[in-house]
Amino acid sequence: MKKIRLIKEDVSQLPEKIPKNESLIVVNTPKNTLERKSLTTGKIIVGFKEETNWLITKLTSGPKDLDVISITGMPGSGKTTLAYKVYNDKSVCSHFNLRAWFTGNQEYDEKNLLVKLFNQVTGSDLKFSEDIDVADKLRRQLFGKRYLIVLDDVWDTTAWDDLTRPFPEVEKGSRILLTTWQKEVALHGKRNTDPLKLRLLKSEESWELLEKRAFGNESFPDELLEVGKEIAQNCKGLPLAVDLIAGVIAGLEKTKSVWLEVRNNLNSLILNSEVDVMKVIELSYDHLPHHMKPFFLYLASYPKDTEINRDLLKIYWRAEGFVEQTGIKSLEEVMEICLDNLIFSSLAIPFNEIGDNPTCQLHDLVHDFCLIKAREEKLFGEISSSDASSSADLMPRIVNIVYNKEQFELNILVQFKKEKAFW
Ligand SMILES: Nc1ncnc2c1ncn2[C@@H]1O[C@H](COP(=O)(O)OP(=O)(O)OP(=O)(O)O)[C@@H](O)[C@H]1O
Ligand SMILES: [Mg+2]
Repeated sequence: MKKIRLIKEDVSQLPEKIPKNESLIVVNTPKNTLERKSLTTGKIIVGFKEETNWLITKLTSGPKDLDVISITGMPGSGKTTLAYKVYNDKSVCSHFNLRAWFTGNQEYDEKNLLVKLFNQVTGSDLKFSEDIDVADKLRRQLFGKRYLIVLDDVWDTTAWDDLTRPFPEVEKGSRILLTTWQKEVALHGKRNTDPLKLRLLKSEESWELLEKRAFGNESFPDELLEVGKEIAQNCKGLPLAVDLIAGVIAGLEKTKSVWLEVRNNLNSLILNSEVDVMKVIELSYDHLPHHMKPFFLYLASYPKDTEINRDLLKIYWRAEGFVEQTGIKSLEEVMEICLDNLIFSSLAIPFNEIGDNPTCQLHDLVHDFCLIKAREEKLFGEISSSDASSSADLMPRIVNIVYNKEQFELNILVQFKKEKAFW
């Protein structure tokens, strides 16, 4: 009963907790910085100093015409991280009248894309009827302003054209910062500035990240130096891999034999294929404490590239019964620690950590992995009215019932059994 009451309380506060806009930070909007006790505030980012300075210069100086600054590079090479860093740089914040962050999600409908972009630019959550010209509305919003719009992860040239068509050509020094792993998109959108192809991390940078994550300011024992550097080398400079492995070793005993095991696990991977990167993700997942796995797998229920509101997520976790009061820690504290641990292990990426709307996100490949695992564990099942057999082999814990109005008959009653403790 107590649990139900608590959930009811949370749900009644939902309207205040649901952010009007999940990804927009507009300059000159006062933010009440929340004091949050977080293990993760100030995620360690290594290298790319030159690239950061170059990007900031390109954004804040140069031609008055609208320019496009693109960052390209393979998945997991740190494009979004770098874009996010410069987007929040003080000199960049103060240079623009309006900043907005748009994350692509392979949406092919032009109108939906523009509505999403419009909402992010204006900080609203509007729906538009068919006859409204959203492109025109967006153009009016941007007109006369010096704007910076980040288009993170644009997947093809059509999406680029759809998104940028409404941008007014005013000589205000506005900028678009584009991240894409498709070089073709970057070249298609190019104006004055050549795309920046993001390099991989140097071995010293990978080691710096591993060392900082594992030891912080403490000095590390000499006996770990050689094997530590080998581990760094084995990550092949891919930030996603280095970051995940750093998360693994930071949580392990700092002894040579344990680190050697990690090195051996990595030795066979070439890390230029998604399969190998998945193995690194698996290694990180395997090292999560058992009780935290459901918390992580639950994230597969969000579509790819969703910015996950941390407060809402905690409400859902609680509603699913993942978290139970143990010892002196409150439920809120237990969930906060879980979130911090997911971020600490680099399985989730934090955004907006010191703002009043902290969010987190899964890297695309981590999301793929999460979905595969969640399916393996039968965490989610989909029962569809159009496929009568779809529930046959399922005993899922969370069921999403999708029904099609024409096929749905009221006398069909879907029953499912909750299976507990499947991990
Ligand atoms: N310079 C860095 N230092 C430390 N960690 C980094 C760095 N760059 C990226 N990372 C980490 O690597 C992971 C992948 O980074 P990111 O999401 O920025 O890659 P991406 O190039 O945008 O990938 P995608 O093409 O799939 O969108 C994240 O967990 C991020 O925190
Ligand atoms: Mg990205």
